[in-house]
Amino acid sequence: MPPIQNEDTCALGAKRVKRLGYGAMQLAGPGVFGPPRDRDGALAVLREAVASGVDHIDTSDFYGPHITNQLIREALSPYPDDLTLVTKVGARRGEDASWIRADSDAELESAVLDNLRNLGLDALDVVNLRVMFGVHGPQEGSIAQPLSALVKLQRRGLVRHIGLSNVTPAQVEEGRRLCDIVCVQNQYNLAHRHDDALIDALARDGIAYVPYFPLGGFSPLQSATLTEVAQRVGATPMQVAIAWLLQRSPNILVIPGTSSVAHLRENLAAGGLRLPEDELRALDGIAGNAA
Ligand SMILES: NC(=O)c1ccc[n+]([C@@H]2O[C@H](COP(=O)([O-])OP(=O)(O)OC[C@H]3O[C@@H](n4cnc5c(N)ncnc54)[C@H](OP(=O)(O)O)[C@@H]3O)[C@@H](O)[C@H]2O)c1
Repeated sequence: MPPIQNEDTCALGAKRVKRLGYGAMQLAGPGVFGPPRDRDGALAVLREAVASGVDHIDTSDFYGPHITNQLIREALSPYPDDLTLVTKVGARRGEDASWIRADSDAELESAVLDNLRNLGLDALDVVNLRVMFGVHGPQEGSIAQPLSALVKLQRRGLVRHIGLSNVTPAQVEEGRRLCDIVCVQNQYNLAHRHDDALIDALARDGIAYVPYFPLGGFSPLQSATLTEVAQRVGATPMQVAIAWLLQRSPNILVIPGTSSVAHLRENLAAGGLRLPEDELRALDGIAGNAA
């Protein structure tokens, strides 16, 4: 098999995007709340990402709130034709920075309108319904009401494609009975592999899977095995974590988040890293040892 380069693509809504994109959540202030510590640095990260060929950026209007989308608009609008912006709705932020479920029909409409205004768009490429039955992980329950509300906004032309986030396999099935689902975004990385079977099922059906916290999120992955593999292949641990995801399944789109241009460059360089089979087997052991 030829090395995975960041030229490899996967369908996401109307377009094919490169397998390695960028997640914008880290651009807001501490705790994804308020303005960034370094505003010019945040704009520089976005501009560098697109200049380096990134054509898929993941965001939400509840990052900041509003601030991350406003930074994206300032840095990148007018947007390149090949850029796919994926946003999410279904939550809002409390004044104390808490994450609050917000998926009534009226709240979803207002979230879509907020995203359109702050990103400066007439229609959103892809909108994920971020299910908030459980804040930190999926919880069973019917998603028919909020998803039907999103479908109505799609019929009005405000939303082009719909995805799901923080969902169980049963919710994915329910969602697919209600409308076309183009992507699923759940927590998944080397140490957190609850979705292995779901990823394989989505791959068979040509649906993109977009792991959130691909590097471990607010506490980046740390493991002796990861460090040892990184040393053996001459890469950094974060590059190995990205390369492992790219090799895990062709429907995985990786969106590492960073507020640093240096980390962005390091992460994008992982698109050219190919891990040998024995190193992949060593990395598989990390999940077995994780809590
Ligand atoms: N659907 C959801 O519920 C949900 C939830 C969380 C996230 N997301 C999406 O998923 C994207 C990715 O998740 P994430 O940003 O939270 O977590 P992540 O990509 O797993 O990790 C980000 C963390 O890793 C650090 N980092 C990045 N590159 C690094 C490098 N090369 N070396 C060392 N540290 C590095 C970042 O710090 P620096 O800023 O210092 O680089 C940051 O602390 C988000 O941006 C967001 O778009 C979605």
